[in-house]
Amino acid sequence: MSLHPDIAAVLAGESDGCIVCGDCREVMADMPDKCVDAVVTDPPWNCGYFGAGDDVEWVQYKNTLREWLHASDMCDGQCWFLSTKSIAYVADLFVGWVPFASIKNFSQMGTTTLPNCWDIAFIRDRQKEYKKNGRNWFLSNTAGMSKERTGHPTPRTIDVMLYIIGMFSWSIILDPFCGSGTTCVAAKQLGRRYIGIEIDPKYCEIARERVRNTAKPLFQM
Ligand SMILES: C[S@@+](CC[C@H](N)C(=O)[O-])C[C@H]1O[C@@H](n2cnc3c(N)ncnc32)[C@H](O)[C@@H]1O
Repeated sequence: MSLHPDIAAVLAGESDGCIVCGDCREVMADMPDKCVDAVVTDPPWNCGYFGAGDDVEWVQYKNTLREWLHASDMCDGQCWFLSTKSIAYVADLFVGWVPFASIKNFSQMGTTTLPNCWDIAFIRDRQKEYKKNGRNWFLSNTAGMSKERTGHPTPRTIDVMLYIIGMFSWSIILDPFCGSGTTCVAAKQLGRRYIGIEIDPKYCEIARERVRNTAKPLFQM
């Protein structure tokens, strides 16, 4: 395999961003070390939404998450979202990371159980490059109840992604589990470059449409 041409164009500054369809481990294996500034992502949580591999024994999930983290360890900045439930099983993979934001997410949906109501965003930024000192929690809109429904079962809300990305100076952001592309939309709104990877072609199309319909600012924010 070789570096995906759309990713090469983003890295060369010839394109603002791209959404690539594929398994992130294979796509990332071709990306050079430190070619992006940060991985900002919301991986599957073993909650049963994303096929057979998303409903497995926790020990198996943890092994897969370890592989995903290893594949993503190509840059200094990292921000990963975990559900309160998954944290109980995988916390030791994040030793040394900072629980950066606590996010109320789907809690107003009738069928949502408590462990999937709250998420924590863990960060590791070797550059320690916070743009400003903000509070370290975030109360988000609830995607399921808002206009932000995207056709994806677990979309992030744009406000929390703007908040997190806006805290850092990262210029090129990679989301290896981009789903409907919320991280990429937020990155574009802030004038950053973005690379989204998504395994499901129908979510890739949704993400591409969303970033196409997003205007970028005149300057990076
Ligand atoms: C929790 S969702 C991300 C939702 C996203 N933050 C949004 O706002 O729409 C995780 C996504 O990872 C995708 N996925 C699962 N395994 C993958 C893999 N190996 N490579 C790339 N994408 C994968 C799933 O199809 C799903 O869309």
